[in-house]
Amino acid sequence: MHTTDTDIIIKTGEILARHPADATALLPILRDIQAALCHVPHQAMIEISQALGIPLTRIQGVTEFYAFLSTEAVGRYDIRLSDSISDHLLGSRELGAYFAHALGVEPGITRQDGVVSFDYTACTGLCDQGPAGLVNGYALSRLDRQRVNEIVDRVNRQIPLADWPSAWFEVEDNIRRSDLLLESTWTPGAALQQTLTRGVAATLEEMIRSGLRGRGGAGYTTAQKWRFCREAGTAETPRYVICNADEGEPGTFKDRVLLNRHAHAVFEGMTVCAALIGAREGILYLRGEYLHLYERLEAVLEDRRRAGLLGRHVLGQAGFDFDIRLFLGAGAYICGEESALIESLEGKRGVPRNRPPYPVTHGYLNSPTVVNNVETFAAAASIALYGGAWFATAGTEKSRGSKLLSISGDCERPGIYEYPFGVTLKTVLADCGAAAAFGVQVGGPSGTFVARAEFDRTLGYEDLATGGSFMVFGPERDILAIARNFTHFFAHESCGFCTPCRVGTALLKNTLDKICEGHGTPFDLVELTDIARLVQGTSHCGLGQTAANPILTTLARYPEHYQARLKAIRFEPGFDLDGSLATARALTGRDDAQAHLAQTETA
Ligand SMILES: Cc1cc2nc3c(=O)[nH]c(=O)nc-3n(C[C@H](O)[C@H](O)[C@H](O)COP(=O)(O)O)c2cc1C
Ligand code: SF4
Repeated sequence: MHTTDTDIIIKTGEILARHPADATALLPILRDIQAALCHVPHQAMIEISQALGIPLTRIQGVTEFYAFLSTEAVGRYDIRLSDSISDHLLGSRELGAYFAHALGVEPGITRQDGVVSFDYTACTGLCDQGPAGLVNGYALSRLDRQRVNEIVDRVNRQIPLADWPSAWFEVEDNIRRSDLLLESTWTPGAALQQTLTRGVAATLEEMIRSGLRGRGGAGYTTAQKWRFCREAGTAETPRYVICNADEGEPGTFKDRVLLNRHAHAVFEGMTVCAALIGAREGILYLRGEYLHLYERLEAVLEDRRRAGLLGRHVLGQAGFDFDIRLFLGAGAYICGEESALIESLEGKRGVPRNRPPYPVTHGYLNSPTVVNNVETFAAAASIALYGGAWFATAGTEKSRGSKLLSISGDCERPGIYEYPFGVTLKTVLADCGAAAAFGVQVGGPSGTFVARAEFDRTLGYEDLATGGSFMVFGPERDILAIARNFTHFFAHESCGFCTPCRVGTALLKNTLDKICEGHGTPFDLVELTDIARLVQGTSHCGLGQTAANPILTTLARYPEHYQARLKAIRFEPGFDLDGSLATARALTGRDDAQAHLAQTETA
C-alpha cells in the first residue's frame, strides 16, 4: 500500500483535529500517527510543526527518542517480544528465533510486503505470565510455539486484531498474598468524603502520622512532598498531581495489577492529594506497554465523573474542581524518572532535568507538581480513610506499612505478594515456592543481587529498599548472563544526555560481552570495575548512577564466576629469539664465541 503526501496530509489533519493545538499534545499526536501510518513520515512532521508551532527538528528528535515511534515504516502487525531476563528464563529467546523464522522476518527489519515486523523490546511488565510480547502495542502473554503458529497464520491472512481470539489478550492479576492495602475494602468516594469531613489540615496530619514513603523506589516522605507543593507559589498558582504509572523497571508489574483491580483507589488517592495541595488537574502517565489498561481506566474515570468524584465541585464542595486525564508513554524507561516524565508530558524527549529546582516547586509547565507512584496514591487513599495510625502499625520503624512485590523467575507461584515491611527474603521465597533459589535480584536491574547466604536480610529502607521487583534465580542459572542482560538494558535505555552514562554504559556492555564470550583478560576485568565506578559516580541521573549495579553487585559476590570466564594467559614466547639470532651469529662469527663461553661457564 503506497501512501502519498496527500494521504499523509489528510490523515495528519484528522489526527491534529482531535487534539489540543499545543506542545503537550505532541506525544499523543505522534502515537496516533504511528498507529495510523505505521511510522511518522517527514510530511506529517511538517504538518505538526506548523500546527503546533514547534520546530521540525524537535519533532524529529522526539520521534527518534521513543521506541514505539519510528521514522521508517514498521509492519501493519508490529510484533515485539519482551527481552526481560524473566522472559529469557522461560525460553523467550529461542521462541523469538522460531517466531521470526515462521514470519519470514529478520528482527528489526520489516518484511518486504510491509505486513509484519518483529523485534525485541524492554520488559513489558508481564514477567509473571511470560514469555510475553506486544502486537501493535497490545499485550500477549504465555506465548508458546502453538500460539506463535496461530499468530503467524492470522498475520499472513491479515486478520484484523479485533478478530483475534480475545483470550490471547487476557492479562491475569495473579494476586497471591494480600495485606493492608489489597485487603482493605471501601466504596469509591469514601476516602474523599472522609478527607473533606476531617478537613485538609487534619488529613495532612494523618498522612504525616502514617509515615508513608514513596513506593516508586526513592522512598521520599509523601506528606512532606505534598506539603512543599501546597506551600509553593501563591493561592492562584496552578498545581498538578501526576501519577507515575511508567513502571519500567524490569520485573515490576504491581502497578499494572493495582490499576486493573484498584483503579478507584489510585484515582481517589490523586484526588485526596489535589484537595490537600489545591490542584485542579491530574495526569496519569501510563506506560505505552499498558495500552491494554487504557479503555478500562477511561471507563473508571467516567464512572467517577458521573458519581461527582471528579469534575466541577467534587462531592458538592464549591471551589473543589479537579479532573484527571490519561497520557500514554511511548516506550522509554527513562520517562519513569519524574523530571523526564514531566518533559515527556510537555512534548519533549524524556531527558531528566537538572535538580534543584524539584518538581514540587517547578514541575509540569513550571508549576508546583506532586509526582507519586501508583502504589503511593493507593496507600494514600486508604490512609485518608482509615487514618495514619492504622497504616503505621504495620512495618518497621523507618518503613511503615506494607509493600507490594512483583515476583517472577524461578519460583512455583509468580505474581503479586503484599507484605508488611521487615519481611525476610527467606519467608518470601518459601511463600512463592523458591526455597532452592540461588539468588534474588531485589529492586530490578537498578537494585541489588542478593545471594543465598544473605536470605535472612529484610525488605525495607533499613536494609533492602525496593520499588517492588523481585526476580528469583535458581541454582542452574548463569550469573554473568543475568548481569549481561541488565547491562544491555541500561545501555539501550540511556537517554544519551550525559557522556559518562551514554559512553560508559556502552563500554560496560562491550566489555562484559567480551568477557562472557571468553575473550576477556584480567585487564578487561579491571577496566570493567573502573568504568563501573566512573558511571556510578559521575552520571547525571538515577539511571546512570545505578547502571553499573548489576556488575558491581555480582562481581562483589561471585568474583570466581568472572575469573573463570577470562582467557587463560600462558607465557608462550611469540617467536624464537635464539633461532632468529642464529643467522646473525653465523654472519658475525660469534657462534663459536658463544659456544666457548657456554663451555667455560659449565666448567
Ligand atoms: C531511571 C528511573 C526510572 C524510574 N522509574 C520509575 C517508575 O517507573 N515508576 C515510579 O513510580 N518511579 C520511578 N522512578 C522514581 C521517580 O523518579 C520518582 O522518584 C517517583 O515517581 C516518586 O514517586 P514516589 O515518591 O511515590 O515513589 C524512576 C527513577 C529513575 C531514576
Ligand atoms: S545518566 Fe543516562 S539516562 Fe540519566 S541523563 Fe545521563 S545519559 Fe540520560
